[in-house]
Amino acid sequence: MSDNTAGVVPEVMEALAEAARGSAAPYGWDDYTAQARSAFDELFGQPVETLFCWGGTGGNVVGLATLVSPWHSIITADSAHVIVDECGAPARFTGATLTPVATDDGKLRTQDVAPFLQWSGNEHHPQPKVILVSQATETGLLYSVDELAALCDFAHSHEMVVYVDGARIANAVAALGCTVSELLVDTGVDAMTFGLTKNGAMYGEAVVFIDTALAANAHFVRKQAGQLASKGRYIAAQALALLKDDLWLTYATHSNAMAKRLADGVAGIGHVEMTLAPQVNGLFPRLPRPLITALQEWSLFFDWDEDDDVVRWMTSWETTTTDVDRFIAGLEYSVSRFDSAV
Ligand SMILES: Cc1ncc(COP(=O)(O)O)c(C=O)c1O
Repeated sequence: MSDNTAGVVPEVMEALAEAARGSAAPYGWDDYTAQARSAFDELFGQPVETLFCWGGTGGNVVGLATLVSPWHSIITADSAHVIVDECGAPARFTGATLTPVATDDGKLRTQDVAPFLQWSGNEHHPQPKVILVSQATETGLLYSVDELAALCDFAHSHEMVVYVDGARIANAVAALGCTVSELLVDTGVDAMTFGLTKNGAMYGEAVVFIDTALAANAHFVRKQAGQLASKGRYIAAQALALLKDDLWLTYATHSNAMAKRLADGVAGIGHVEMTLAPQVNGLFPRLPRPLITALQEWSLFFDWDEDDDVVRWMTSWETTTTDVDRFIAGLEYSVSRFDSAV
């Protein structure tokens, strides 16, 4: 159904239990937070400003509200989580205009942003300020290093910044096979959310300002947005556990591999048409509606586009090869019943 239906990785549970012993300073003044912030510096290969938040929507709110003033616009794909799935939170908390752009595949390109530049300096229009991309996208596609760098170059040459919604950044880094600094520092990304929850944390995300100069007001914004945890050590301890020995990458690599196994396994099955080539841990197949209904009675998954009979199948750090093979077998069985009924 989703990668956030999965449980918590054992290393994070152990870290939580360990962090629960004794007292620690609140509001991020504790040692776990200091260590986790240093771990992010190391991961990015340079000092970054890392703020832990409760969740993904809240993290996006904190990151974006730090970057913009109410007269700015945040330009993003119309399928972006910030547009579709956050109940308008970024618009409410930033006061800025979120500008959704229709794209073929949910990926934003410089030519999608260029038309809005004619508004720069004109007081009648929201002022283009942020290019927001989801990496991986909501339909599991990736921006290559070059694609991201092109967006950043374009943004910076027009006094804009690039924000990455990285709820699934782990899956993206694992699939691209590059380092965090190659993908997010060398390309010129300014700020981002670094997802933890979908990759095995219990809760919590990190907002990372790669351009630390942009973070001047971030701590005030986080507090106002209700995203500062008083017992901050618990989010930090989870982040530390995931970053240790690149566990985050190991789990994301596994999750991606399970999606690949599922894609390969369903490839030859009739009536299943893959609408997008899976790149991370989500598959978006089109199936006849009666088949979807029968399968959903047995294994819960989301309709992605009800009108087009496209659904979403996701894997996670917790998905096993047995889970995948059972699902494939169940699909084969349902298809054979569907065939004999028509
Ligand atoms: C692309 C993206 N961004 C952000 C989020 C985080 O949202 P939440 O507020 O549910 O943690 C999600 C979760 O589904 C997501 O898919």
